[in-house]
Formats: sequence, C-alpha cells, structure tokens
Amino acid sequence: MAKPLLSNMSGRIRQGLIYADGVVGRPPAVPTDWPSLDRAARHKLSRRAYAYVAGGAGLEGTVRADRAAFDRWELSPRVLRDVSVRDSGVEIFGRRIPSPILLAPVGALGLVRRGADVEVATAAAALGVPYIFSNQASQSMEDCAAVMGDAPRWFQLYWSTSDELVASLVKRAAVAKCEAIVVTLDTTMLGWRPRDLNLGHLPFAFGEGLAQYTSDPVFASIVASRPDGPTTRPMLRDLPAALRALGAISHRHPGRFLDNLRSSVPRASVQTFLEVYSRPSLTWENLALLRELTSLPVVLKGVLHPDDARRAVDEGIDGLIVSTHGGRQVDGARGSLDCLPDVVAAVDGRIPVLMDSGVRSGADIAKAIALGARAVCVGRPYVYGLGLAGARGVSEVVQNLAAEFDLTMGLCGLTAPAQFGRHSLVEARRQRDRRPSRRTR
Ligand SMILES: Cc1cc2nc3c(=O)[nH]c(=O)nc-3n(C[C@H](O)[C@H](O)[C@H](O)COP(=O)(O)O)c2cc1C
Repeated sequence: MAKPLLSNMSGRIRQGLIYADGVVGRPPAVPTDWPSLDRAARHKLSRRAYAYVAGGAGLEGTVRADRAAFDRWELSPRVLRDVSVRDSGVEIFGRRIPSPILLAPVGALGLVRRGADVEVATAAAALGVPYIFSNQASQSMEDCAAVMGDAPRWFQLYWSTSDELVASLVKRAAVAKCEAIVVTLDTTMLGWRPRDLNLGHLPFAFGEGLAQYTSDPVFASIVASRPDGPTTRPMLRDLPAALRALGAISHRHPGRFLDNLRSSVPRASVQTFLEVYSRPSLTWENLALLRELTSLPVVLKGVLHPDDARRAVDEGIDGLIVSTHGGRQVDGARGSLDCLPDVVAAVDGRIPVLMDSGVRSGADIAKAIALGARAVCVGRPYVYGLGLAGARGVSEVVQNLAAEFDLTMGLCGLTAPAQFGRHSLVEARRQRDRRPSRRTR
C-alpha cells in the first residue's frame, strides 16, 4: 500500500492545498471548523440520524462538561525556537502512526450514509490513521478490513451475555488483522438518551448496526436456537409502521431482500441482539477470560476513575481510553479531559492512556497530549465529514485536525508531541478569577 497520506502532510502543506484550491474556485469538501461542520451536518442528516449522533444522555450536561474541560486550559506558546522540522507521529503498541489521532468506534453509521463503514475504512487506510471498528457497525469487520491492506485497525467489543459470541468476535478480529481489542465498559446498559427516546428511535430495533452479529456464526446459532416469532405481536398494532420496520430490517439483513422479507430470521436476529448485546453484570473477573482468548493488546474504554485505572494496570491491561462515550451514557458526569490527569498519574507511565469525548480541534489535541494522553480518538467530527462527503469528507476532517495540531505544535515552539507537558499549559484566567480568594472564602 502507498505511504500514508498523513505522513507526508504537514499543516502548512494542507493549508497550502486548501488555499490553492480556493484560487481555482474549489472550496473544501467540508467546513474546516467544528461549529460550521456541526451546522452543515444538522442540515444534511435525517432528523433521526442527527439526533442519534449528536445526542447525549439526559440533559446533556456531560456533553457540555467534555467541552468545558478543554476551555479550562490555555496553551502557552514559546517563540524563537527552530520548528521548521516537525514530526506529529506517535507510537502505540509498537506501531508508529502519523498523527496522535484514531477514529473512535461509532455504531450504526449506516444511518448516516449507505456503505458508511467501508468508506470510513477506506479513508482511514489512505491516511494511515487507525480505525477502531465498532461492535455495532453497519458493515462487518471483514468487509472493512478488505479495503484496508495492512493499514492499522482495532476492534471494539461490547461484552454480550454470551461468552461464546465474545470469543467468536475476538477470534474474527485477529483474523481481520486488528491490532488491539478495545473493551467498552461504560455501556453495559444504554444511557437515557432523550433525543432518540422522543423520536422513539433505536437504530438497532430497525436492524441498523447489527452487521458484526449477523455475520457471526455463533450469533447465527443463537438465533437458530430461539423459539420463533417473538417480534410479531407488538408490530401488528400499527400496520404501516410495522411494514416500514419490516422493510428496513429485511433490507439491512445479509442476503436478498425478498428472501429476508419471507424469512423470520432477520426479525429474530434483531430480537436476539436486543436480548444478548449487553451484560450489566460484567466485572473484572470476566475480563480475565480475554487473556485466554487473545494475545492482542487489550484496551479498556470508558475508564474515568484513577482507582479503576490502577486496577486495570494490576490486571495486566495494555492501554486505557479515558472517555465519557461522548457524553452519551452518564449525564452530569465529570468531563473526560478533567479526568485525564488523575488517570495518567495513577497509571504512572506503565501503559499508554488515550482519551476521547469533545475533541474538536488541533488545539484540543494539543491540550490532551499536554495532560498526558498518548493520542486522542475522534468521534462525531468524522461522522459529520462522512455524512457530508463520504470517504472524502472523513479524510478532510482528519487531515484538518492533524494539520491544525501540527501547526499548533510548531507555533507553541515544539517539534514533537512528546515535548508537550504541563509546562505547555496554564489554567484559564476565567477559572482562576472565579475561584474565591482566601480572604472571601
Ligand atoms: C453515534 C455514536 C455512536 C457510538 N457508538 C459507539 C460504539 O459502538 N462503541 C463504542 O465504544 N463507542 C461508541 N461511541 C462513542 C465513541 O467511540 C467516542 O467515545 C465518542 O464519540 C467520543 O466523543 P466525540 O464524539 O465527542 O468525539 C459512539 C459515539 C457516537 C457519537
């Protein structure tokens, strides 16, 4: 495969290309800043798709907290240092990646665009940015891996009620050349998400986001062993809606549409998924099983508390992702970046710590790195790029973030991510001023 695009693309080159295109009347495929990207996606995506992607849990306090955490820090640029040669690359699990960015696992992407996951995989592979396949993907990991050559990818696992299904997914991930298993721990149950609840819309109930399951032999045997017809009763209450749902489910299930329409398997698959996909009883003891199933690095996603981070290191876990799941699980929780320093301190350099939730710019990436993250994962921004312009949109969003990070790094007087540290940051004045002085306390 050709050299990854990002390894040759400094921030200045990216900037230069955008301006050169502008001279011949070609604007960028997607807006280069988050507020404009969000606005454009809100207009383009269907109501259900935008609600699903943008929404957070409850009053969306955690979505706001994730952003506010970035505003609490200001970068402290230094001048007159030779920053003409820079390298944004970082190493994770022995693999060097061109920029400290990974694509977060995002489920039900088919809501946003047909063929979505393969488009994201195509863009990620060309860039050299690791793509974390979601357990809730709309296309299978094998279909995505098929367009990625040797480009880096990881697999994100939701621990279902069936250990056999877990084993099968993990085995498939290794065959698909995934380089790490990410176990998401913050979603043993779905958070309370009013934007979706108000529309009565759960993508999975319409067969969206089930591709890793419907392509799995163990899942197929669980479906085959269930008593037939459990979904028919509630559906018959509103015939047009039931027919629409049946059409959607049959369309998304593997195989021919007409065959699926006649078969009970697609509906039984949805019902089975809803019964098995999460395991609220999950504990550290279950995780030990993973070690028997795979020799790949195991990364825990959704760790926010330093005690959990310490325990993870003790249990032999290989990496952590500090994450609030984009504010989609616990409303009123502490912002992800606010949790990062304590987790980094607890881990004490023994395993890499990544973070996500609320990363919207190159400066955000710089702040996360300065607070101890090895790299960040990005979610909604690339999903909006996908919705606006397919693989090209994903690519441009990531190129823009990487370019802005590279320029920010150089303009702070640094030439590599490892040079960022607490010394690169000051607490924002607004915060300092708001704190009561000793005399008024
Ligand atoms: C629409 C949507 C679907 C998601 N699906 C998954 C998923 O299947 N598995 C998972 O571990 N995280 C999932 N996440 C969480 C992301 O991996 C990531 O933690 C989050 O999007 C980061 O926040 P950001 O969107 O603010 O960048 C999802 C997030 C969104 C927005």
